[in-house]
Amino acid sequence: MLARDDLHDPNNLALSLLQEPAEALAVLAPAQEGNFVDWAAALRSGEISPRTNVYPETKIRVLDLDVLMTDTAAMPVVRFPHRPHTEWLDCSNCHDKIFVAKGGANPITMFKILQGDFCGQCHGAVSFPLTQCRRCHSVPRDQALRVEPQ
Ligand code: HEC
Ligand code: HEC
Ligand code: HEC
Repeated sequence: MLARDDLHDPNNLALSLLQEPAEALAVLAPAQEGNFVDWAAALRSGEISPRTNVYPETKIRVLDLDVLMTDTAAMPVVRFPHRPHTEWLDCSNCHDKIFVAKGGANPITMFKILQGDFCGQCHGAVSFPLTQCRRCHSVPRDQALRVEPQ
């Protein structure tokens, strides 16, 4: 509700002229939590097509490379997909400040993620929340041993 978002003046009579975010977002691919939009799906299906660059000389690099992260105890293995990330972000947003660009080279734990490190720099902040375990832990352990990372 705009009237209760602590950004808009609830006493401003013109507030009712603005569209409520929930109404605007309701037409997009649904998610269970966060702001209730699956943004990666919305982009894939063409529901949204955000501008990729402000400056014409900016080079867009989309990388189609999945990395399997198998140090997940009893949880399903994590499949980190580069494609949907590089459709929103530049390599330099992650490499090498957050992650060294080498499979298995980062000492990632769930505890550190929950404290806001690694994946937790974005997930739970600007991208889908950490309570959505299965969106990251998406590959059953027995399959992960067979599937080769692309
Ligand atoms: C959202 C963060 C993020 C972005 C953006 C990103 N990467 Fe990565 N990258 C990762 C993670 C996470 C890994 C896996 C690290 C690990 O296994 O510890 C990785 C691994 C890699 C690897 C090693 C793969 C392997 O199997 O050893 C390469 C090469 C790489 N990235 C290149 C790139 C390039 C090129 C771009 C831009 C086109 C890019 N990355 C964008 C997070 C990112
Ligand atoms: C944003 C992605 C993401 C989400 C969401 C997520 N995890 Fe993880 N999780 C990871 C990554 C990455 C690792 C480290 C994998 C590796 O290093 O091979 C991990 C590791 C783990 C581990 C292994 C032990 C440890 O402490 O590191 C457990 C258990 C785990 N997660 C449980 C969960 C549970 C339960 C949830 C939901 C409440 C969850 N995870 C949500 C990405 C995620
Ligand atoms: C620099 C920011 C950033 C980091 C770091 C990051 N992500 Fe993401 N991630 C995003 C954004 C932005 C999206 C797309 C919007 C959304 O789904 O919330 C996304 C989407 C995803 C998706 C959904 C892909 C789809 O097609 O539905 C998965 C899975 C995912 N991230 C896993 C991870 C894992 C695992 C890590 C850590 C190894 C990680 N992310 C680190 C920003 C990040």
